[in-house]
Amino acid sequence: MRHGDAEPENRDPIVDMIKENLVFLREFLLEFKTTGACFPTSRWAAQALIAPLREEERAPKKILELGPGTGSVTLPMLREMRDGDSLTICEINPRFMKALKDKLACNEHFLRNRERVTFFEGAAQEIPTHTRYDMIVCALPFVNFDLETVQAIFHRLRQVSSPETLMTYYEYIGMRTFNDALAPSDRAERIREVNDYLKSSGSFNYLGKERVWLNLLPVNIYTIKPSAA
Ligand SMILES: C[S@@+](CC[C@H](N)C(=O)[O-])C[C@H]1O[C@@H](n2cnc3c(N)ncnc32)[C@H](O)[C@@H]1O
Repeated sequence: MRHGDAEPENRDPIVDMIKENLVFLREFLLEFKTTGACFPTSRWAAQALIAPLREEERAPKKILELGPGTGSVTLPMLREMRDGDSLTICEINPRFMKALKDKLACNEHFLRNRERVTFFEGAAQEIPTHTRYDMIVCALPFVNFDLETVQAIFHRLRQVSSPETLMTYYEYIGMRTFNDALAPSDRAERIREVNDYLKSSGSFNYLGKERVWLNLLPVNIYTIKPSAA
């Protein structure tokens, strides 16, 4: 261990989980629009989101994570990172970013990779455009955004993608049915516009969908090529 490295602590995983859920719940109440969920992503959904990183034989990847929150996807991703991979973590909420950095400070997989991990505190639609990423892992709550915001995010993602870039993101199962039946009409209309943009416009090349039931709420995980129509 080098001078200045954080000492790995003996942490109680149950206490950590309760703390993480409390941080998340607080942000859900304070920043509902950007947080979009009241619990962090489950380990099963996280594994589905990072599936392309587990391929046995693969070239080093430049990875971009959008919306890490408290790190429920970041941590398994750091575990899967290999020599030559790099990771940029983009988070709009400074409190989430601070909680994440605190958590990573003594995480062995972060410490192993940290020379190749960078943080961008700001909006996904403002990520600097100097890097072309190979893989984008996205947990942004698109259905909470208006259409212009979703379009601005994908405009920027195309600028930081090559035609081969893969992106994973999730959507709650049944969200559209629930929305059509129960949401107030202005919210229902906004969500319909966003869904039409994501699914019906032919904007993206959809490569796969995986259902994950063990998540609050169950999700579909989509794999797309964001820059290939
Ligand atoms: C549904 S939470 C997901 C958190 C975590 N990845 C998980 O799966 O448990 C959405 C995350 O996206 C972040 N976020 C929302 N809008 C964003 C934006 N425009 N740019 C970057 N991060 C954003 C939120 O602050 C939050 O951390």
